[in-house]
Amino acid sequence: MDLCIIGSGYVGLVTGACFSEMGHHVTCVDNDQRKVDMLHAGRIPIYEPGLEELVHRNVSAKRLRFTTSTQDGVDQSQVIFIAVPTPPQPDGSVDMTFIEKVAREIANALKPGQYRVVVDKSTVPVCTGERVAATIQRYNKTAEFDVISNPEFLREGCAVEDLMKPDRIVIGSSSDRATDLMRRVYAPFQAPVLVTDINSAELIKHAANSFLSLKISYINAVSAICEASGADVELVADGIGMDRRIGRQFLNAGLGYGGSCFPKDVKAFIAIAEELGVPFNLLKEVERINAAQLERFLRKMRDGLWVLKEKKIAVWGLTFKPDTDDVRNSLAIDLVNRLIAEGASVTAYDPKGMEKAIEWKLIPASVKLAKTPLEAVADAEALVIATEWKEFQNQDFAAVKSQMHTPLVFDGRNLFDPATMKEFGFIYYAIGRPVVK
Ligand code: UDX
Repeated sequence: MDLCIIGSGYVGLVTGACFSEMGHHVTCVDNDQRKVDMLHAGRIPIYEPGLEELVHRNVSAKRLRFTTSTQDGVDQSQVIFIAVPTPPQPDGSVDMTFIEKVAREIANALKPGQYRVVVDKSTVPVCTGERVAATIQRYNKTAEFDVISNPEFLREGCAVEDLMKPDRIVIGSSSDRATDLMRRVYAPFQAPVLVTDINSAELIKHAANSFLSLKISYINAVSAICEASGADVELVADGIGMDRRIGRQFLNAGLGYGGSCFPKDVKAFIAIAEELGVPFNLLKEVERINAAQLERFLRKMRDGLWVLKEKKIAVWGLTFKPDTDDVRNSLAIDLVNRLIAEGASVTAYDPKGMEKAIEWKLIPASVKLAKTPLEAVADAEALVIATEWKEFQNQDFAAVKSQMHTPLVFDGRNLFDPATMKEFGFIYYAIGRPVVK
């Protein structure tokens, strides 16, 4: 099929690349000329495992192309996906400016007698589909189209895999004609398809992400009880996770959830519920617990180091999670800034996130950056694990200890086995686990 994706960010680019890999002809539209030039030159603006090969292969096979022209994309394609950002506003509600603008652009590009399916892939508040349809109609009285909601559930770091092998495909539709076309788009993916009305599909996205955030906050709240009682949150998570009704995934206690989706989507869902007159206080508690994790971690550091001022601290990890270069809304970054604010001297190392942390000025210039994890710990009075990169697990711990001034480790992601840390002679603080001394 001929498909158009408007917006070449994380969701748009990965979706475009995967659709073309499945044999569709895809036009990716982005209004940022620099980004399109970069993609034409074969450079990928984001790091995502597997994406580069996918883009190169499908560009060479002439199934994937990039343009700044919405008209071009709409002319060529039966189905037009909207994958533009829906950033949060200061009050937590969703800024719909980009979606509205794209709806107008599509309206202006639609030609009489040319039926198109307009699919919203961006995360949007419930009832957005109705507004997109009304906007297109307002700006183009003769347009023949249907609007579909088709939320995306991909995770950064395994976006290609998530898209190629999804748990489910949600199609929110009020038109059989459009639903049939969507089924054809997804036929090569061999995943279960759930067809719903448009509003339910839109709600599924916010409800799913908020539930996963709730799961994380739940285990983090349990981790505080474990610390107060001497229990081990990892064993508790294993024990409750073995119940198939609960499941072990997203029960990893840590510094809390970050990234571009969970914080924003929980906030948005609270705002949406408020606006509908049904306040969702449970989610406010989810946010409160998430914010409390970093404070508790800092208290733990003060417990181990007494005063943080003038302490030399190594931080491993800057990205909001492993296997991505994304440092936005990262608790690792928040932690570094808090340590600096308390007068500590920080040397950080991250396999992929250092460049963007500097480029986007997310960490102060006083933070030193190391080329290797081992270089970061030289003479350090404490080591902090802020992101659970695999690389950190495979370190030579005898060498790490010998480089450090004091063998104190604060593990914000429960990456290490306490018994091993004891063997190497570290004083080891983790989340929701007894301190190893
Ligand atoms: C998430 C959803 O998983 C995805 O379905 C949606 O489309 C976008 O939002 P993403 O933000 O890429 O994906 O990352 P995810 O792997 O879900 O992690 C989000 C945050 O939660 C990270 O900061 C991670 O460290 C944290 N997390 C995750 C935990 O603290 N504990 C866990 O058990 C799992």
